[in-house]
Amino acid sequence: MSDPYGDRGNKDLSVGNAKGMGSVIPKAGGTSFAAPGGPFLIGDSMTAGYGNGPDILHDCTIAVEEGEIAVIVGPNGAGKSTAMKAVFGMLDMRKGHVRLDGEDITDLSPQARVAKGMGFVPQTSNIFTSMTVEENLEMGAFIRTDDFSDTMAQVYDLFPILKEKRLQAAGELSGGQRQQVAVGRALMTQPKVLMLDEPTAGVSPIVMDELFDRIIEVARTGIPILMVEQNARQALEIADKGYVLVQGANAYAGTGKELLADPEVRKSFLGG
Ligand SMILES: Nc1ncnc2c1ncn2[C@@H]1O[C@H](COP(=O)(O)OP(=O)(O)O)[C@@H](O)[C@H]1O
Ligand SMILES: [Mg+2]
Repeated sequence: MSDPYGDRGNKDLSVGNAKGMGSVIPKAGGTSFAAPGGPFLIGDSMTAGYGNGPDILHDCTIAVEEGEIAVIVGPNGAGKSTAMKAVFGMLDMRKGHVRLDGEDITDLSPQARVAKGMGFVPQTSNIFTSMTVEENLEMGAFIRTDDFSDTMAQVYDLFPILKEKRLQAAGELSGGQRQQVAVGRALMTQPKVLMLDEPTAGVSPIVMDELFDRIIEVARTGIPILMVEQNARQALEIADKGYVLVQGANAYAGTGKELLADPEVRKSFLGG
């Protein structure tokens, strides 16, 4: 092949999943987008805020189906990270529920959710910078009592650069490599679902493409992915489902394709 990068995954339709595709639903706050049987992971009609502060999320719903990639986009401060934290159990839910594989986990701690199969890569402070790459991966396996060397080998297969740098302090790595450490660390628990908050923040377009390719690869192994992205257009291109959040509420939801084609979404959130 003359251009080995010509068919990179961003436009790869083979990860698409025709089942359960809905239509664009403007101003759909309060509506659950659950398909029959329910999505694999759903934060359903969430109203939540920090401490005793005001509600940040208003009847907000985000979800991901088995075998799919779901992407959450929206302006800065829209509550995307808050929605992810709510799904992971990091703030008190005032209304709404979180269900994983049909089970209501609204009252579980984040640690208990990890034990149930949730992997979460937060937007900030997602690696231990003074520890080596390998130590970070070992920390990721903290809940495991079995031999995790196979999983570590899989992470190194997925991110070969991490194997090369495994004895280096994670803080010495580039932005894109640090994000690989963070994703790799989350994979060490062998999660059933992976939540990523802005995995491509601050990286170059080429590195972003590569990270998206690796994320698609993870999804292909059967791990559904719920991810926040500020690179809205590129992320929606690889998304089975997309959500646009505005001021803590659902503004639009649909397949990635539908959102990319929607004139209102394009005008307001994708730069025309
Ligand atoms: N730890 C926190 N304590 C109090 N308010 C917060 C905290 N984190 C975020 N917020 C507020 O919640 C709102 C949504 O923020 P965030 O979820 O980070 O938005 P996004 O991820 O979409 O940029 C903002 O008004 C922000 O100031
Ligand atoms: Mg955020």
